Amino acid sequence: LYIVHVTAELAPVAKVGGLGDVVTGLGRTCMERGHKVLVMLPFYESIDTTQVEGLAEAETFSSFHKGSWLPVKSFHGKVAGVPVLLIRTDNNLFKGSQIYGGDYDEMEAYLFFSRACLERMQVTGDQPDVIHIHEWHTGVLAMLYWDMYNHLSLKKPRIVLTIHNMEHYGECRVEQLNMCGLDGSAYGTIDRAIDERTIGHNPERLSLLKGGIVYSNAVTTVSPTYANETLCSGWLANTLLRNRSKYFGILNGIDTTVWDPASDPCLPMQYNARKIFGKLVCKQYVQRGLGLEADDLVGDGIQLVRRKQTPLVICITRLVAQKGIHLIRHAINQIGERGGQFVLLGTAPDPRVQAEFEQMSQKLQTSKNIRLLTFYSEDLAHKLYAAGDIVLVPSMFEPCGLTQMIGMRYGAIPVVRRTGGLADTVFDIDDPKNKNRGNGFVFDGISEDSLDSALNRALTYHQERREWWQDLTARVMELDHSWNKSAAEYLNLYNNVRVG
Ligand code: ADP
Ligand code: GLC
Repeated sequence: LYIVHVTAELAPVAKVGGLGDVVTGLGRTCMERGHKVLVMLPFYESIDTTQVEGLAEAETFSSFHKGSWLPVKSFHGKVAGVPVLLIRTDNNLFKGSQIYGGDYDEMEAYLFFSRACLERMQVTGDQPDVIHIHEWHTGVLAMLYWDMYNHLSLKKPRIVLTIHNMEHYGECRVEQLNMCGLDGSAYGTIDRAIDERTIGHNPERLSLLKGGIVYSNAVTTVSPTYANETLCSGWLANTLLRNRSKYFGILNGIDTTVWDPASDPCLPMQYNARKIFGKLVCKQYVQRGLGLEADDLVGDGIQLVRRKQTPLVICITRLVAQKGIHLIRHAINQIGERGGQFVLLGTAPDPRVQAEFEQMSQKLQTSKNIRLLTFYSEDLAHKLYAAGDIVLVPSMFEPCGLTQMIGMRYGAIPVVRRTGGLADTVFDIDDPKNKNRGNGFVFDGISEDSLDSALNRALTYHQERREWWQDLTARVMELDHSWNKSAAEYLNLYNNVRVG
């Protein structure tokens, strides 16, 4: 198959969260299975071009935008081994030092980008079998295709939309939709067909995610449980229910080349499930580097023994309500009181929340047990996964979640709330139903007590059942969270999607 991803994120050059990881990991795995893959990505001003291998100018063409035809430049190259095509106008619409919340009008820029991607396929005669669009950003591509490109020479591709997070539905005003050449008022009129495309029956406010759902040949989301949860309530649930037969939950994988403690260049010492002592070295390295009290290790060059060890809990996350910020705040105090250590690596898109965590971080600067790192760092994320005994993911909702899977690969035992993809990947160790598959600690509810019911067990077991914990760590590291199974499910879907 020839698969073209049209996406707002691609790891590592344009990554904000898991979306970027998913496109790179899924794309690479499909390539390894002999398929042709291309990723079309906005040429954000913030992209570090040194990370794009062989970057070179490709076609120049025009695309319709705000009533006229704008010159568009495309550039090809490779990112982490995956062929990429970067799209921009002369006067780059994607300005600023960050991907989202940058110095540009996001709605305008993604409308332009989605149309330009189709236009480029049209003018170059590029004929993918599958156009895989992601999130609201590119939902309009499915609408544009059916409205304008369906009848032209483009071979009929199958259009697959993946929803990574229903919270962002791409609210678009009628006049905004006009910018890409669609008749916004037609999509806003209340008659039976059009009604499907409006938010809460308000003809003035359209949703590009909803447009993508209605006009794609298949729609997926990133875990089976989230797929079920999203069918339960709300206006998008109604849209999904009406499109139930083409809606699937496919669990994300993680990129096991990027996330591999046995070869990770960011670590002071690599390790695997059978030679775990590298993990102890990584932990001590991080503890010392951050000025935390370090575990006491003695070694004879062959074996390392911990004389004293403190459970280290890590949490690597965007600081937004989805991720259970109130429980993260609670964990900061609770873990310290229970004699554990906690390191948070996270940033908040909301400046007030960012400032709050920065202030807390300042106050805790001299703590022996707590560090709050309020910035983004891939390198440090790798080191922390390796150092952590426990990875905390107390999300209020979680379409899939990658950090619990990455954590497990690095031998950090997950403590999670039972929701979405967390429920599909973490099984409570003390639940008799999970006899052979228990791999972490799970809680329900949203209160501090609920979190404590899982977190305190994890801290206690770490201290009191040393050998058991080591065995658990080794077993969890060997679980298969690679893209193999999920990529096969996507390929199966790509092959079986009905066009039309
Ligand atoms: P989401 O996509 O909702 O943010 P996921 O768990 O799917 O959540 O993916 C988050 C990804 O972003 C993981 O790869 C995680 O390691 C990474 N990440 C989040 N915050 C940071 C940060 N401050 N520094 C480095 N990596 C981060
Ligand atoms: C979203 C979700 C997250 C998921 C990621 C990749 O950002 O919040 O749960 O893992 O997309 O699909």
